Amino acid sequence: MSTLNGKNIVLGITGGIAAYKSADLTRRLIEAGADVRVVMTTAATEFVTAMTFQALSGHPVFFDNNDDAEASGMKHIELARWADAIIVAPASANTIAKLAHGRADNLLTTLCLASEAVKCFAPAMNRVMWDDLSTQSNCKRLTDKNWFQFGPASGSQACGEIGEGRMLEVSDLLSSLEHCFKSGELQGLNLVITAGPTYEAIDPVRFIGNRSSGRMGYAIADAAREAGANVTLISGPSHLSPPEVKRFVAVESADEMQQAVMSSIKNCHIYISTAAVSDYRVADVARQKIKKTEDGLTLKLTKNDDIISVVANQQVRPYVVGFAAETENVAENARQKLLRKKLDMIVANDVSESSADEPDIGFNSDYNALHVFWSSKGQLEGEQQFELARKSLLARKLITLIANRYRDNTQHAKDTA
Ligand code: PMT
Repeated sequence: MSTLNGKNIVLGITGGIAAYKSADLTRRLIEAGADVRVVMTTAATEFVTAMTFQALSGHPVFFDNNDDAEASGMKHIELARWADAIIVAPASANTIAKLAHGRADNLLTTLCLASEAVKCFAPAMNRVMWDDLSTQSNCKRLTDKNWFQFGPASGSQACGEIGEGRMLEVSDLLSSLEHCFKSGELQGLNLVITAGPTYEAIDPVRFIGNRSSGRMGYAIADAAREAGANVTLISGPSHLSPPEVKRFVAVESADEMQQAVMSSIKNCHIYISTAAVSDYRVADVARQKIKKTEDGLTLKLTKNDDIISVVANQQVRPYVVGFAAETENVAENARQKLLRKKLDMIVANDVSESSADEPDIGFNSDYNALHVFWSSKGQLEGEQQFELARKSLLARKLITLIANRYRDNTQHAKDTA
């Protein structure tokens, strides 16, 4: 399956004859399973029509002063947050210069400046413009800012000259973009990830559950797989379709989750516990549906094992990452959990009510904001904050952080052995 499957891609089109190839790129991105939004500069609309891209992408095209696209519900900041990747293809010398210098004088350049997505550009211009020292230094500035540069290719140009500056062919652009999501940071490592809620039965029809949708855990599993890990995903009940991981285990209760975790943990390098596991289960589950005969009903609850603590207390243990969903004293509660449960890392997320002008975060939302703490030898060692973003983007950032911390830990263990 393409790494672009399920990804949100913004295709930025600037003024250049190669813009006609972007129509095919739109189609191929959609065939690969991506959701595409097109942003055009004014110059681009002189080469190709917005209508073409609206028809191919199935969504209004964004360009300067276009009320249609804004009326479709996405303002440029939302679009910046929505994107997993922005690819500017073709990227003209003028737009490359603006992007390199952080200019934000049109919708596309503003969007690029405001987005934390993966960013790529495919230069397309006359060979003399391409060879110009300022173009070369602008491209270098962009790659220094972690932009991916695709091409250009050499060959005959629309102006009749022959040389470097042609936009890459669509198939090459597609495979280069796919490659951006394969970091290899966890190549060959075994990860066990838990996700979703657990359901604790009360009787054959009722249960005690929680608001977890599985989104955060599934996004992490997907990012870990893309980073080259062998992922076992153990999930409580979720309406989502599972990502294409090596092994997927569906469970219902905390007890089932614990059994699945313990039978998967041997040879596991990193354990990530995103699941919202029920702390209690019903002591005596009724065999038949409980009838509404009394005015009140008292349920006796028994404490479940804390699965992550069981994992962390093993003699040979993986690198253990917990999550903490908190509604108050978020950072402090998370720090305490990190040390009390003997974890290597904890990811705090604030699940209190969001303000009216921010999207909901935490449970059952596509968005989150994370505050990560990690420890060394039982002491708090570091922290990093990830601002509000889509869970898919946060998952990739988190996987990079986990991979770095895991490498440092194993290196330190080797040095002191
Ligand atoms: O699924 P989503 O809708 O995307 O929502 C994501 C999320 C909010 C559920 C997720 O980001 C999150 O915060 N998960 C942890 C929620 C939680 O239950 O935290 P906790 O503070 O109760 O537990 C702390 C840690 O111990 C967690 O890693 C939890 O998995 C683990 N735990 C808890 C109880 C238990 N019996 N066993 C455990 O292993």
